[in-house]
Amino acid sequence: MLSQRDNELLCRVGPGTAMGDLFRRFWLPVLLSEELPAPDGPPVRVRVLGQDLICYRDSSGRLGLLGAHCPHRGASLFFARNEEGGLRCVYHGWKFDASGACVDMPNEPAAWAFTDRVQHTAYPTFEAGRMVWAYLGPPAAQPPAPPLEFTRVPDDHVYVTKYPLECNVVQGMEAELDSSHVSFLHSTLGPAAAPDFNGVLGQSRRELVFQDSHPRFTVVDTEYGLLIGASRSVGDDQDSLYWRLTQWLMPCFTMVPGDPQGTLLCQIRIPIDDEHHWLFRLRWNAFSSLSENELATYRRGAGYYATQLPGSYQTLANKRNDYLIDRHKQRTVNYSGMESVPVEDTAMVESMGAIFDRSTEHLGSSDLAIIATRRRLLNAARDLAHGLEPYPAAHPEAYRVRSAAKVLPRDVPFQDGAAEALLSRL
Ligand code: FES
Ligand SMILES: [Fe+2]
Repeated sequence: MLSQRDNELLCRVGPGTAMGDLFRRFWLPVLLSEELPAPDGPPVRVRVLGQDLICYRDSSGRLGLLGAHCPHRGASLFFARNEEGGLRCVYHGWKFDASGACVDMPNEPAAWAFTDRVQHTAYPTFEAGRMVWAYLGPPAAQPPAPPLEFTRVPDDHVYVTKYPLECNVVQGMEAELDSSHVSFLHSTLGPAAAPDFNGVLGQSRRELVFQDSHPRFTVVDTEYGLLIGASRSVGDDQDSLYWRLTQWLMPCFTMVPGDPQGTLLCQIRIPIDDEHHWLFRLRWNAFSSLSENELATYRRGAGYYATQLPGSYQTLANKRNDYLIDRHKQRTVNYSGMESVPVEDTAMVESMGAIFDRSTEHLGSSDLAIIATRRRLLNAARDLAHGLEPYPAAHPEAYRVRSAAKVLPRDVPFQDGAAEALLSRL
């Protein structure tokens, strides 16, 4: 439970808010690279942290991320011409390069032109992991790029798509931090009922998750965020525990255990504004490119990904059609009657309302990681408001971590066991 005051602090992310300032201290993905496929292509709208921006790829391939409204008289640069190294507003022809400098003012006589005095809002970007990353904070605090593993492997090792959600970012993130819901929301009604779903966790892990539906949580504060362990018993084996280790990295990256074939998973939730966010759902393989078969499976969905409306990132199953819940399937195939893991999660977090009033909730022991994450975000936002910079933003080397799932001897101390499980994958 949170007070209404803390709930407001947690959920408001626009310019000038404490949580908005905290998010702006980190590099955040704001687009998929595929949305800007070629130089001089159409500009793309970006709304992030309550700010409206325009991103474009100039003639040399360089990205520009500019304020959406032309500094002359405010027309949208979405309609701009992308030509010869800059974005030209179609209202009166003013042109801006990727740094935001005004490089041409053709409606003014040369003697009157004041291009040198017009600097448009522009933010730094880079591309990695098939995504466009942006830094929206103060230039003096700009950190180096975080060396997350999926940003350091070749692009053909990575698959990523994104979905828009109609609720606050933290509400979405809380779905990843709560390992106990996997035993219910994502479960099937028997191994043969839904072969596609079996692949998501792998048959053996699936059985371990569903045998014990009340995991015990251990949460460890780390430099980058939190290491969250959920342990489950392993059938009649009194000497072992099945651990699922989730990594939460400030401010909005969650690595949940991937599948046993070595493909790792990260969910990144980026605030559009207080009541909307993007979920970037990303998989990568550290050692090899993803096979055609794997890519075809992800594109098909198959429980891993949601089916999307053609030409859009919006999921076919969504709030307006009750996520296409199939009551017959709910009785005979899977617990939710919905098509995929992301749709199931989205249905639950959107159904709570755009910003859930956390002063009315009743948290249990399975919500330990959620409590710890809120505390971490709230403390970091308050600290920053008092002038104390968030440690992980300026120490990105701490982001070299992975999630893991493993059966370990019961008597291995959690932190040793977690380290062993993680290192065995590196
Ligand atoms: S509003 Fe853009 S050039 Fe006038
Ligand atoms: Fe989930």
